[in-house]
Amino acid sequence: MTTATPDIHRGLAGVVVDTTAISTVIPETNSLTYRGYPVQDLAAHRSFEEVAHLLWYGELPDAAQLRDFRARESALRPLDRTTSELLARLPETCHPMDVLRTAVSFFGAEDPTEDDGSLAAHRAKSLTLLAKLPTVVAADQRRRRGLDPIPPDPGLGYAQNFFRMCFGSVPAPEVVRCFEISLILYAEHSFNASTFTARVVTSTLSDLYSAVTAAIGALKGPLHGGANEAVMHMLEEIDDPQRAAEWLDEALAAKRKIMGFGHRVYQHGDSRVPLMQTALDRLAARTADPGTTRLAALHTALRDAMLTRKDIHPNLDYPAGLAYHLMGFDTPTFTPIFVMSRITGWTAHITEQLAHNALIRPLASYEGPGERAVPGVGG
Ligand code: ACO
Repeated sequence: MTTATPDIHRGLAGVVVDTTAISTVIPETNSLTYRGYPVQDLAAHRSFEEVAHLLWYGELPDAAQLRDFRARESALRPLDRTTSELLARLPETCHPMDVLRTAVSFFGAEDPTEDDGSLAAHRAKSLTLLAKLPTVVAADQRRRRGLDPIPPDPGLGYAQNFFRMCFGSVPAPEVVRCFEISLILYAEHSFNASTFTARVVTSTLSDLYSAVTAAIGALKGPLHGGANEAVMHMLEEIDDPQRAAEWLDEALAAKRKIMGFGHRVYQHGDSRVPLMQTALDRLAARTADPGTTRLAALHTALRDAMLTRKDIHPNLDYPAGLAYHLMGFDTPTFTPIFVMSRITGWTAHITEQLAHNALIRPLASYEGPGERAVPGVGG
């Protein structure tokens, strides 16, 4: 008897596994909407807090709702002493994504309602994570710089407060705006690898902290969120704009993946890139520093060479990586900033998964040895 070979969808490419009302990527037009609104319009005209509200509640907040959302978020920002002491005990060589993963796991261990899957509990936990993650990320960057943490300021917006906790001051509004644009663009992207990870964990009826901890692990990888850091390492390796094309040829010949380029869903360019590239250009234009000019020239030269050689477009991590560098963040802080934003999308999906849950359990086509006897067992 012959068995039909099943269709294999390696990497789940092209597979539609469920419905969602949170966002959609339309590859044909290279567009992305959150709850129906084009992400470019949200990024250009709305605050990150408004977008977080939109993703969680389905609608943009009115003035009173926004005030209430901001007040609740800012009140939750401080870390308790136990959490701060625990995080301070992690090795200084520990990657900040591991610090974040540990922090979320610890928040879950501390929360007596960890297993309460009600919508109200989910919303409360989501807001707690949104509020506290920047405090963890900022304290960790300062720790690596040998500096004491700066407590959150409830009078500042989400983005402004993060700058102050990292650097002790808030930069020019234009810089804060560029950062906020990146947060909005990073917030949500349908069934990407980390979001899908969160949904898989949730589908077993595990708790929200476990789902977010797993999602952080998935985002850390350089084929996903870790690419924004990897872009910076790559630019530092190339160093000279004149060498970009030659470096690229060698890297492609060695079958290296060029970080910050390509996308599973977009075939003709990531819809989020033009706005982030404009933000990056504005940041670069603010300084006459020769190092910045050189990095910006290298960034452009590599992009152009990649388009010419492979016709592969940059993804959001390509402009975002350099933008975070120009804002003054340490390279290992880049992917944790992605987490601070994507926590909104992850938790929206966790809630949606629970609302119409089905255990996620695909099949595999077995290609190992045929059935055989364990040595020494049987006749
Ligand atoms: N550098 C070099 N070649 C590439 C790249 C790249 N960045 N991206 C795609 N390709 C080539 C592949 O080598 C492959 O060529 P082949 O058919 O001749 O073997 C072809 O394009 C298809 O690539 P796959 O890796 O199979 O495509 P997939 O859809 O699985 O990958 C991915 C998408 C993982 C994002 C890939 O483009 C990549 O590795 N990019 C670099 C990492 C990166 O920037 N990740 C960030 C993603 S966006 C985000 O998380 C916000």
